Amino acid sequence: MNTKPVTLAQFGCGYWGPNLLRNFSTVPGCAVKYLADPSAERRAFVQKSFPATQAVADWQTVLADPSVDGVVVATPAGTHFALAEAALRAGKHVFVEKPLATTVQEVDALVTEARTWQRTLMVGHTFLYNSAVRYVKNLIDRGELGEIRYIYSQRLNLGRIRSDIDALWNFAPHDISIIQYWLGDPTPSQVLRSGMAYMQDGIDDVVFLNLVYPSKVMANIHVSWLDPQKVRKMIVVGSRKMVVYDDVADDKIAIYDKGIDRRAVLGENMDYDKPQPEFAYRSGDILLPQVSFKEPLRVEAEHFVDCLRTGREPITGGAHARTVVDILERAGRGTANHI
Ligand SMILES: NC(=O)c1ccc[n+]([C@@H]2O[C@H](COP(=O)([O-])OP(=O)(O)OC[C@H]3O[C@@H](n4cnc5c(N)ncnc54)[C@H](O)[C@@H]3O)[C@@H](O)[C@H]2O)c1
Repeated sequence: MNTKPVTLAQFGCGYWGPNLLRNFSTVPGCAVKYLADPSAERRAFVQKSFPATQAVADWQTVLADPSVDGVVVATPAGTHFALAEAALRAGKHVFVEKPLATTVQEVDALVTEARTWQRTLMVGHTFLYNSAVRYVKNLIDRGELGEIRYIYSQRLNLGRIRSDIDALWNFAPHDISIIQYWLGDPTPSQVLRSGMAYMQDGIDDVVFLNLVYPSKVMANIHVSWLDPQKVRKMIVVGSRKMVVYDDVADDKIAIYDKGIDRRAVLGENMDYDKPQPEFAYRSGDILLPQVSFKEPLRVEAEHFVDCLRTGREPITGGAHARTVVDILERAGRGTANHI
């Protein structure tokens, strides 16, 4: 295993940043030398909780330090592009929290910069490093579920409300990234958004996003920060079996041996030539598989450091990030634009 020492710096340590800082600080052979955040309160927090990391106010001085190999960007979405571009141009490898950027044009520009400087560019689509999500991917790829018919996803909670982006851009990068990964990154033929802003003008609190793929697979994503319960649930309906993936349950995956088959009736010309179709209902066992669990953020952090060391393309590199931002962009910017 390549354990060449790696020195990182992180930009931003608000709500999510401590999770990244904790994980990147403990990857073998990896140290986070700086944390840059304009907030004095957040710098004081880092100084106290992560004494090995030096908290500084501005990120420009960090980029000027040649000992820094890579940068972790954990700032609000609207700042991702400018910070990632500056870091790549300074010759750093870059990990950016989701979404990678706010337009496909920006994603393409970052991919070009990364290629020009031969640096790793990776986005924090954390769920692709989650063993339950990978378990479902394996079921799909092995044909265990049969043909995939539709998928729906609910990512709901009361909060945490944001003012810089809406609930779709905040939560749905996860759902889109998972669905694209499960389906092998196809391009949806239709992207339909329905959302509403209740708490702040022009910022949707709840969004239903409907995707239709050329293969007839449909996906529906429901995101909201205005909901009574914390729900993180995805359901995959296949022609053979159906799966419920519940990220907040003890049994994260339940596989239902259920379905409806068209009954073949031997006729004169072909099997299904009766005018009135007949159906057979299947309702078999429910399997709750044991899925070994390792903190997805840790797996993600190790993957970034490994890609940086080896030059390997990350699973959540520019190409995957592009499909996610493309779908978000096609969905539109919400209430402000579509009413
Ligand atoms: N993967 C996940 O599950 C997950 C969960 C939550 C948030 N996130 C992502 O993490 C990122 C940060 O979200 P958050 O909830 O922590 O936001 P936040 O607003 O709580 O924190 C952002 C921090 O960045 C700092 N900051 C702002 N501009 C900066 C700059 N130019 N340079 C350095 N620091 C700067 C702010 O002072 C603040 O401390 C977002 O991209 C969000 O989508 C990911």
